[in-house]
Amino acid sequence: MTLDSRFRGNDSGSVLIIMSTQEQRALISYTKQKVARHFRHHRDPSHGAAHAERVRRLAAYLSAREGQPAFLAELAALLHDIGRRVERRRIPLTHHELSYRLCREWLRADRRFDALTPAQKREVLYAVRYHGNDDANDYRSAALVRDADKLDAFGKIGLRRSVIHCQTSEVALPLNVSLRLRYHLLHFFKTAAARRLVRQRRLMEPIADYLRRLNRKLIKPIRL
Ligand SMILES: [Fe+2]
Ligand SMILES: [Fe+2]
Repeated sequence: MTLDSRFRGNDSGSVLIIMSTQEQRALISYTKQKVARHFRHHRDPSHGAAHAERVRRLAAYLSAREGQPAFLAELAALLHDIGRRVERRRIPLTHHELSYRLCREWLRADRRFDALTPAQKREVLYAVRYHGNDDANDYRSAALVRDADKLDAFGKIGLRRSVIHCQTSEVALPLNVSLRLRYHLLHFFKTAAARRLVRQRRLMEPIADYLRRLNRKLIKPIRL
């Protein structure tokens, strides 16, 4: 893509603005700041701005390894958990759905997102809404965001995030259950690059070690 904006007619004869790479970087940077402001007073740092930024970087890494364009995956990565800010036990919606609804509001109301085409907005919203399962994997960025998000649940960072989440969130699973689910997540990686990263950097080891010690502590003696 060239560094300047260019115009292209689509099938319906209307004109679409194609963003340059520079403009894409500017929108990513703007979104990163918006997400940071959104999470400023969020009480669960395991799902705040730092997590969103790590997932963005991981999505960019996976995109490069998979030979995919990174822009929409990075954008969706920054936005994927914004619903965490408002999730509560009494609210009968998952944070994925809350993130999607809030993201749709932002895309509608914030003029900076007018730079996105309707197709790009749709792809971002699918990736955000379904980042907890594989339902939107026809959209490549959805699979990339999902793998990037999962990667941040592994290694020492993932372990620390789990401990913090269990201490601060009213919707958290018990820690041993949450850590055990990492084995489940391993099965669902979609990109070879993510699987390779987990294997090469031994990202499951800190989780497995901690879980083993935790379960040993939790076990109660049986008296006949
Ligand atoms: Fe999430
Ligand atoms: Fe996340």
